[in-house]
Amino acid sequence: LVSAASALLVDKGNHRHFMAKEIYEQPETVSHTLSHYVDMSSDKVALREALPFDFATLKRLTISACGTASYAGIVAKYWFERYARLPVDVDVASEFRYREPPLEQGGLSLFISQSGETADTLAALRYCAGQGQHIASLLNSPESTMARESQVVFPTLCGPEIGVASTKAFTAQLTALASLAVAAGVARGTISAQQEAELVHSLTTLPTAISAALALEGQVEDIAKRLSKAKDVLYLGRGQMYPIAMEGALKLKELSYIHAEAYPAGELKHGPIALVDELMPVIVVAPSDELMAKTLSNMQEVAARGGKIILITDEVGKQTVGEGVAEVLVLPKVASFVAPILATIPVQLLAYHTASFMGTDVDQPRNLAKSVTVE
Ligand code: G6P
Repeated sequence: LVSAASALLVDKGNHRHFMAKEIYEQPETVSHTLSHYVDMSSDKVALREALPFDFATLKRLTISACGTASYAGIVAKYWFERYARLPVDVDVASEFRYREPPLEQGGLSLFISQSGETADTLAALRYCAGQGQHIASLLNSPESTMARESQVVFPTLCGPEIGVASTKAFTAQLTALASLAVAAGVARGTISAQQEAELVHSLTTLPTAISAALALEGQVEDIAKRLSKAKDVLYLGRGQMYPIAMEGALKLKELSYIHAEAYPAGELKHGPIALVDELMPVIVVAPSDELMAKTLSNMQEVAARGGKIILITDEVGKQTVGEGVAEVLVLPKVASFVAPILATIPVQLLAYHTASFMGTDVDQPRNLAKSVTVE
């Protein structure tokens, strides 16, 4: 018999860091998480948890989380609003809890956490429970405090995450949230059976697409060498790519200690364009979709000021790219529903390789903790 403790012993495999191992596990961890939420043989969502609420009659979904998990919540807002026409409020838990927002009785509050122990997220959960909300959590730790205090726990099935900076837990959170948004759309009658099948099918294409994205590593390493000399890096994205730009900026600053900021591309002209000069790398996250042309025109404004553009797009988007782009990282084309999950891979790799090139402690960045259980 393998004891529970030894079963939990995790090593780095053939990788230099836990973070690299966890990045490379994502084809499997996304696939494993997905198999919990959908029936792949019929391309339908199939939730296993008994729901203490009814998606069909919900008026509002309130999401709280911290750090990387909060960016998963922002992507989820785009999905629930678009596919289930369900209004979503999303906030970092440390703001939400002290704001004490008014919440309608019987609404649904969802908490996203790898550890299930983050102090601010837990306090937000307790506040919502006190307001008569249904309490749901999306967790990687089924034995955690948040799990015990939730009416329903949706799991991410990515195994223990050791690197302080979250990677595979984030893509597993997104996979689960995408499935839940489809489930909500089906229950609310906002998507047809045909659309459900298309959306679920697009999720099943992810593991192969993620493997292809991981193969960009060599090109990413070259870019990372140059990125490591930057003092400031700007990340731009629109719509559901904006939170992926935020995740990219967070990863770069926490691992490499280079100052990085993310902006919604449309806000560029309202401030950050003043920062752009020949020394400023600008990472644009823009797979082909209905917003890409707008983002490309923002990119031209950066190029005109000499900014060094690194564009993350896909095979289709690549064909529309004009002059002035220093580097293009080309992802496989996937349905735009799942594109944020795929676009996460190159932003993780960029941060990882920039930091490992600089020799910082990638798995244990200075001043950071894996689980923040104090306020
Ligand atoms: C810390 C970690 C992050 C994580 C955040 C939220 O800041 O360094 O990687 O995203 O906490 O943690 P949780 O366990 O609630 O997802």
